[in-house]
Amino acid sequence: MDKFRIQGGRPLEGEIAISGAKNSALPALAACLLTDEPVKLRRIPQVRDIATMLKLLKRIGAQVDSNGECVTVRAQKLDRPEAPYELVKTMRASSLVLGPLVARTGRAKVSMPGGCAIGSRPINLHVSALEQLGARLRQSHGYVKAEAPDGLQGTTVQFDRITVTGTEDVLMAAALAKGETVIHNAAREPEVQDLAALLSKMGARIEGAGTPVIRVEGVGKLHGAEHTIIADRIEAGTFLIAGAITRGNLLVTGCVPEHLGALVVKMRQAGAEVSEAGADELRVRASDRLRSTDITTEEYPGFATDLQAQYMALMTLASRHDRLPSFQPDVRFMHALELARMGADIRLEGRQAIVTGVAELTGAEVLASDLRASASLVLAGLVARGETVVDRVYHIDRGYEKIEEKLARVGAQIERVD
Ligand code: EPU
Repeated sequence: MDKFRIQGGRPLEGEIAISGAKNSALPALAACLLTDEPVKLRRIPQVRDIATMLKLLKRIGAQVDSNGECVTVRAQKLDRPEAPYELVKTMRASSLVLGPLVARTGRAKVSMPGGCAIGSRPINLHVSALEQLGARLRQSHGYVKAEAPDGLQGTTVQFDRITVTGTEDVLMAAALAKGETVIHNAAREPEVQDLAALLSKMGARIEGAGTPVIRVEGVGKLHGAEHTIIADRIEAGTFLIAGAITRGNLLVTGCVPEHLGALVVKMRQAGAEVSEAGADELRVRASDRLRSTDITTEEYPGFATDLQAQYMALMTLASRHDRLPSFQPDVRFMHALELARMGADIRLEGRQAIVTGVAELTGAEVLASDLRASASLVLAGLVARGETVVDRVYHIDRGYEKIEEKLARVGAQIERVD
């Protein structure tokens, strides 16, 4: 099993380029199932979750041609409209094919995601929204089976709580439903907006993506299109934190500064210098010890839950300010225990983590438990005294493209070992 061996203590300096967003590329690939014509997607990140999605599309019957960052999908015949357990168990986002499949073929069978390392993440909201669109859904033998032999019918969908992939699933299904669908309490994430942009290029009629109310006027058929995926804001945020934690000077290129607003505000409050260097570039500099700042994770445009672990790593070394930083409400705190093994002072109180900055972290052998937790351990390793070995980096490979190569190019001493 691969590990990262990191020698800490080197400030990162130079330029680091951002890849396409995994969480945008996943629904975009699922959307290719909505048409029998080819859809060409650019800036697809080469990460393991994408490989899993491509495997799933092929299994369903689509033809997939991938050439580096460019992937063309032609979903002419969908012989097996199902997402089997062996794929869903490694990637919950497989449930993104539920909406497109039932809309296009009138049937779908998708394995229920089990509990995973970041807590149980059900798909009940996807299911009830598709029921509202007229699909019949049953659960048996660990699978959700959906049927809509006469097609889906546009309606009002009210989400009880905000769900990103749930919104995406319904958006795709509604694009081919008869009549108008109005989605209330929709997720506003940039990834939802990017999906709407792709669907619109395919002929869908969508208004309001990026707001809590999305209107979709169903069309009989969608067609092929070409689309470039947006930059990965979580990867960009991780590298901004890497620049600050190592007290370096890093230019993060090919990102969308607007998508990183909540993080940038917090980093500035903490004393890091973050400036817009160009339309799609952010520069981060930090020379002094940062100050402690509280964060609360929220849906976009709030502070992303996917950056909480990395920000926690940053705060382990902050100086105590007027308050202790706490992070809430989040159940993804597994990294806190590993950070503590590196010398961090973190107290978990229910859904809050209270971090008291320490003067230094020390390298240790640590275990990655999920994608973003692994990133936080790498960040801590970059600044810890001595050697850190992060085990189970297959988690990080799910969503970060060649992270060790990108970090090494800006001065990190990090290598992948068996
Ligand atoms: N929820 C339900 N029922 C549902 C769906 C969600 O109860 O049917 C709950 C979840 O358990 C969670 C909350 O609603 O507590 C919000 O979850 P959401 O559905 O928004 O998450 P998601 O769509 O499954 C996406 C990202 C995650 C990211 C979250 C939150 C993708 C493929 N995944 O997940 O990304 O953490 O939104 O922003 O877009 C990652 O990239 O590391 C990652 C986990």
